[in-house]
This record gives sequence, C-alpha cells and structure tokens, in this order.
Amino acid sequence: MMLHIPEVLTPAQVTEIRQRLDTADWMDGKATVGAQGAQVKKNRQLPELSPVGMELGQIILKALVNNPLFFAAALPMRYMPPLFNRYEGGEHYGFHIDGSVRNIPGSNLSLRTDLSCTLFLCEPEDYDGGELIVADTYGEHEVKLPAGDMILYPSSSLHKVEPVTRGARVCSFFWVQSMVADDGKRSLLFELDQNIQKLRAKLGDSEEVVGLTGHYHNLLRQWASV
Ligand code: NI
Repeated sequence: MMLHIPEVLTPAQVTEIRQRLDTADWMDGKATVGAQGAQVKKNRQLPELSPVGMELGQIILKALVNNPLFFAAALPMRYMPPLFNRYEGGEHYGFHIDGSVRNIPGSNLSLRTDLSCTLFLCEPEDYDGGELIVADTYGEHEVKLPAGDMILYPSSSLHKVEPVTRGARVCSFFWVQSMVADDGKRSLLFELDQNIQKLRAKLGDSEEVVGLTGHYHNLLRQWASV
C-alpha cells in the first residue's frame, strides 16, 4: 500500500531543516548502496553519522511518533535514522529495490526494511523532474509532494527518481520495520482502523464500535511480532 501522509512537518520546521541542510557538507550518494545500486545512483547525501543529519532526523522522527495516520499505516517497531539526499543538475536514481536488511548506524541492531519513507523538503514548483516513480502491479505511480509531506510505500517496490533538470530536489528518506511484516495484512489492519475511526466519530463508543476495536486488536495480536 502506498500512502500520502500530509503535513508531517510544519512550514517552520521545513524552513529550519532546509537552512541547516543548505550549508551542510554533502557527499556522493553511492556510499550507502551496494554495487548494483551504485551503477544507477547519481545524487548527493549527508553522511550517515553526520551530527547535523542525526539532529534533523530526530525532528522528523519526533513529528512522526505524534502522527496518528503514520502510526496506523506503518505500525512501526524500529526506524532507521532519517537520511537526506539532494538531486540537481540532471542527477537521478534509476530503478532499484532497497536492500532488505540494514544495520542501524551506531548500534548493534539490524532493521528489516518493510516500509520506505520519502519526506519532501522543497516545494514541487522549485524544481523540474525529480518525481519518485514507484512501480507495482497496478503500474507506475508518480510522486511529487508539497514540502513537509511524506509518501510511505512498501520497500519491496521497484522505484526510481527521475532526473532533476531545474533547481534542486531535497528530501529525507528512511526505512521502517513494522510490527506486521506482511504488506497485505498491514493494509487490512489500516483499512479496518480507518473505518473504526469514522464510525466512532459518527456513533461515539457504541457497543459495535467497541466490538470492532476489540476485533482490530485481536487481529493485531495474532499478526504482530514485537
Ligand atoms: Ni531506494
């Protein structure tokens, strides 16, 4: 399931993060991919353990923890510290699938990449090209969101970033390990949750709403590994 999560960051947070990023030291993005990815990746990134990147990443994770739509969709268990990338002057990243298991920098923990997140830090009108293209069984989806908005998509998807032909595309990207590894089961839980929320808004905590909420949690209990 692909999901657009609007307004993860406030405009003030986006401005603060952009000001810090615009003066940061960027490096070749090939540093964080294997040999196959390196052939198709042409962009720049902040180094994984860059103090600025880690500090800005915390602002993003803090915002996400308080975002109910993200929580319902991702059922997050573990996060990679957010990374930051920049594409300009024709830079692009060809079709690839993200690595399935990654070490969390600065720790002994690994993370299974269930969900990929791209958080846009510039407005779509500030650059040409740079669309994130995600391919699934329904075809190719083109994503270019307002600053502060995020797209969540299964890490099992083939995806690419189109060449940026004017201006610069600045984004944060990171991965989430979910309590529910299977995308289909996670999507079912998300739909159930969203409909329960709508019913609760209409009916309050009626007997039926309480019953369905219990059903949601009993399914989550069966499917979650924590
Ligand atoms: Ni990728």
